[in-house]
Order: sequence, then C-alpha cells, then structure tokens
Amino acid sequence: MPIGAKLASKSASSGVGESRSAAAGRARALADPSRPLLDVRGVTIQYKTQRHLVTATYRVGFNVLQADRFVLLGPSGCGKSTLLKAVGGYLQPTEGDIRLKGELITEPGPDRIMVFQEFDQLLPWKTVLENVIFPLKTTRTLNAKAAEERAMHYIKKVNLTKFAHSYPHTLSGGMKQRVAIARGMAMEPDILLMDEPFAALDALTRTRMQDELLALWDETQFTVLFVTHSIPEAIKIGSRILLLSPHPGQVKAEINSVPRGQENSNEAAALSREIHEMLFTDQIEENSNA
Ligand SMILES: Nc1ncnc2c1ncn2[C@@H]1O[C@H](COP(=O)(O)OP(=O)(O)O)[C@@H](O)[C@H]1O
Ligand SMILES: [Mg+2]
Repeated sequence: MPIGAKLASKSASSGVGESRSAAAGRARALADPSRPLLDVRGVTIQYKTQRHLVTATYRVGFNVLQADRFVLLGPSGCGKSTLLKAVGGYLQPTEGDIRLKGELITEPGPDRIMVFQEFDQLLPWKTVLENVIFPLKTTRTLNAKAAEERAMHYIKKVNLTKFAHSYPHTLSGGMKQRVAIARGMAMEPDILLMDEPFAALDALTRTRMQDELLALWDETQFTVLFVTHSIPEAIKIGSRILLLSPHPGQVKAEINSVPRGQENSNEAAALSREIHEMLFTDQIEENSNA
C-alpha cells in the first residue's frame, strides 16, 4: 500500500531536498509556454511487504515533452518498472506527483498504454486483428468497422498485414512484440509506455525491432517513455536519457542522446563510456558501504 501521499506531495512542492538542477529544470519548464506532456515531480515509491518497507524510487523528477523518446536507464532493481507502472496509474507514489497534461494521474487510462517485455501479453484465443481491436472496442466509442480499419492501419505499420488472421502461437517472439506495439499504438495514447519491450528477443531481432520502432517514430512522432537497462539501446532509442542510480532509484543525470542514426559514432561511444563510468562510481560506493 502506498503511504503518506498527501504529506509528501507538500514537501515536494516546497522543493525540500531537490537538487538545484531539478529546480532549474522546473523553472525552464514553467518559462516554456508548451508545458511538458508528462511531469514527474519528487516521486518516491515504496512497497510495503509483510516484513519490510521497500523504497523502490526516491524523489525522482523528470519532464517528458511531446514527441520525446524518453528513456529510463538504470541497473536491474533501480525502480524503472515501478516508475512506469506509476505513470500508467497502476501504483500511487508515496511522495510527489505525476501529471499528464497537467492532470494528476490517479488511475490507469487509455491515454497511457503499456507494452511489456513478455511474449504472452496477447490473448492466445484471438487472432492478431482481434487482439488489436479488443481494447479499441472496450475503451472507445469506435464502431466495429472503424475499429477494424484503425487496427488494420497499425497492423500494416508494423508489417504484419499478412498475419492479421493468424493466432499468436504461430508467430515468432518479434512478431508478437510487433502486435503488442500495434495494439498500443492503435489506441493512439498520449504516451506509449514500453518496459524493456525487446529484452527477451535474440540480438538480431532486437536490433531490427529497434530500427522498426524508430522508423515508426519518424512517421508518427509519438511520445514514448522507454525503459531499458542496456546502455547501447538507451543511446539508440532515446532522444533523452534519465540515468537512475541503483536501488533505491534516484536521478543520477539527465542526458541528451546522440542524434538519430548516430548510435555507432565516436560521440555515441564516448557517451556510452560516460554512462558506464557514472554507473561504475555507484558500484564502488555500494561496495565500500557493504
Ligand atoms: N510488488 C513488489 N513488492 C515488493 N517489492 C517490490 C515489488 N515490485 C518491485 N519491488 C522492489 O522494488 C525495487 C524496484 O523494482 P523494479 O521497479 O522492478 O526495478 P527495475 O524495473 O528497475 O528492475 C526492487 O528492489 C524490487 O525488488
Ligand atoms: Mg523492470
């Protein structure tokens, strides 16, 4: 159960414990007439288990602008999935708040759609087309014909038109992920939330899926919040990267990635080294505290 939400949002708004860069970032955001699409401020999330209180993230703040490819990068257990679930509205922060277009997020909604890593996120008894149509029917006022047209449009975008009437068990892992992405995009959410969507794929398929996602972005410029623990993937996918420290996750740095298509450049290699170093510093601190 999340605790102390009200109390903490007060201290977050007074700026207690915030880094100077976070405060400067907010000042910039306020000065900017195009306010951020997603505004995450001072977010601490705790899990209460039977024996412990686990702090998954500690006073994390960041802004996602329209058409950003915003990446949350950090080692396993630093609270990336927790943050994404909170943006999805599945978890409430203990402290701080999360706003989409200025509105406080209190529950899940069709304006934020999640794509997960697992291959079993499709309904096995429904075809590709039916899987993509299903959430359109349950949450939208589209009639059957319009829903089918919308679904086919996005199935085409992920190059699966020929498989529209196939069942998930006949598809490869990469194809299933493409269906999940088409299903998410068909909802036309304000923001697409992707939790290590390619982590379970083989290396070649993973590279191809990254390229496809970027090609889709070139076409439609959707806003995506993308979670990964892979530095090369973060540099390739992200326009901006939020680097989180190990457990509990805190903001270590917010970094601009290299320009699109430059992921193999010297600049990208330098950025990769810089990120490695930042993560490695944490490792030393952790060990010396142990
Ligand atoms: N349901 C839960 N109950 C208790 N602790 C949890 C739960 N989910 C995650 N955690 C803990 O919160 C921390 C962050 O987890 P998670 O957000 O899954 O990290 P990441 O996605 O970065 O690997 C971890 O220490 C994890 O063990
Ligand atoms: Mg995770």
